Amino acid sequence: MFEIHVLEDYEQVSQKAFEVFKEVLNEPHPVLGLATGSSPVGLYARLVAAYDKGELSMKHVKTFNLDEYIGLDRNHPQSYYTFMYDNLFKHVDVPSESIHIPQGKGALEKLTKEYEALLVQNPQDIQVLGLGSNGHIGFNEPGSEWDSVVHVVNLKPETRVDNARFFESIDEVPDFAVTMGIADIMRAKKILLIATGKKKAEAINEMINGELRNEVPCTILQKHPHVVVIVDKAAGSKLKHD
Ligand code: GLP
Repeated sequence: MFEIHVLEDYEQVSQKAFEVFKEVLNEPHPVLGLATGSSPVGLYARLVAAYDKGELSMKHVKTFNLDEYIGLDRNHPQSYYTFMYDNLFKHVDVPSESIHIPQGKGALEKLTKEYEALLVQNPQDIQVLGLGSNGHIGFNEPGSEWDSVVHVVNLKPETRVDNARFFESIDEVPDFAVTMGIADIMRAKKILLIATGKKKAEAINEMINGELRNEVPCTILQKHPHVVVIVDKAAGSKLKHD
């Protein structure tokens, strides 16, 4: 079931996402599924600001990130590990042993199995999601199976092009990534999906009004009991209204 908020701009979207996310922090031992990309940056900035003012603590949480590029060192400027520390973890009181980010280097078969086992033991109270312009969630690209678990994925050319803006050139964008599967995402009690800009408008409309199909992975969210969708006017511009 979708709870849809179409707001004015990125600031309002981030503020609303913060309000929804913050409620989960009131639980005794929240398990937080986290995402990277530009969409959740405003949410993380608000968490850091609230922490600085003494309004919240993340001492009692466990975090699990959605995905990571394969082949980059953890400390590479574009790894999702670096992203999460720079945007959130460095600035709040979450203990480092409570932070889980898939590893994109090493014995991947073993590492993906271990990450999957951890996820099964720690179902997310909330899972933050961005959205690829092709409808991907995490790095579950078009064609992903609904029962997929943590796995290695060959990134689609359009995803590499979309993400090239963070790298010096497209050649530096990794070809592969490791991602939570669709089944891992669907296990979350609540999903908080953030999308802004007109490049996401088609995928947002498909997610809500389109036919359920593997070619558009976000359509599986139609089957989830509670998805809070927070978009700006541009990303919501193709939504059909009654
Ligand atoms: C990457 C990530 C996704 C993210 C997407 C959207 O592909 N793997 O998890 O949702 O980017 O990114 P952005 O929020 O920058 O548009």
